[in-house]
Amino acid sequence: MTTTPTVPRATAVAARATELTKVYGQGETQVVALDRVSVDFRQGEFTAIMGPSGSGKSTLMHCVAGLDSFSSGSVRIGDTELSALKDKQLTQLRRDKIGFIFQAFNLLPTLTAMENITLPMDITGRRADQAWVQKVIDMLGLSGRLKHRPTELSGGQQQRVAVARALASRPEIIFGDEPTGNLDSRSGAEVLGFLRNSVRELGQTVVMVTHDPVAASYADRVIFLADGRIVDEMLRPTADGVLDRMKAFDTKGRTS
Ligand SMILES: Nc1ncnc2c1ncn2[C@@H]1O[C@H](COP(=O)(O)OP(=O)(O)OP(=O)(O)O)[C@@H](O)[C@H]1O
Ligand SMILES: [Mg+2]
Repeated sequence: MTTTPTVPRATAVAARATELTKVYGQGETQVVALDRVSVDFRQGEFTAIMGPSGSGKSTLMHCVAGLDSFSSGSVRIGDTELSALKDKQLTQLRRDKIGFIFQAFNLLPTLTAMENITLPMDITGRRADQAWVQKVIDMLGLSGRLKHRPTELSGGQQQRVAVARALASRPEIIFGDEPTGNLDSRSGAEVLGFLRNSVRELGQTVVMVTHDPVAASYADRVIFLADGRIVDEMLRPTADGVLDRMKAFDTKGRTS
């Protein structure tokens, strides 16, 4: 690996949640989805978020990504405090600094792969960094597919286009909510490999929610949520290690 200035220092924080709390509803129907969660997502690091269904994984991701409001605590993206922003500024920050990969890829059917990849930048009138976009396309093995429309691509290829779209604008941080959930294991492994490479080779920061211990093993670390709290963290996870940790949850009587 080369140490070009484009690779950020491993110690800088891309996003930080401090005492983040999210309460849904009121009175009897009140749900504490996040209970004073504090976590750092460092630049150039790949984090997986795991935990039983309903433990708050999506809520954590949505709150940190500025897609959802929170009840108390604070969230920082880079040096920017989210609660200090007006709606319009928040929308702008999401657009400029954050990439999303959703389970449904949200590709536009009438556009080619290339048009889908540069769409977010085209909408906002930003000029794509051609060299960067080409690097991303090469890394994802999409060069021969750029003129194809989504229906002319396999599921794995479509997902790679969605990954390329998230990477193209070079966001500060990429969030994925089970980004490989709909893929067969081979396509899933491909996409995870690309995400890992984007972290290793391009210095990208990635946060991914997953239920799959194998998917989690691609990350640099796993944080485990239960009942809206971080209950454990694992560095350099292996699939077996993650599986064992999940079994420990089950034996405590938690449902998933
Ligand atoms: N809009 C909402 N209104 C009320 N409660 C909600 C809402 N969204 C989520 N919740 C509750 O907040 C808790 C956390 O939900 P969240 O979607 O973050 O879980 P999750 O860990 O992502 O689960 P899964 O693995 O099933 O996707 C759950 O108890 C859920 O029922
Ligand atoms: Mg979820």
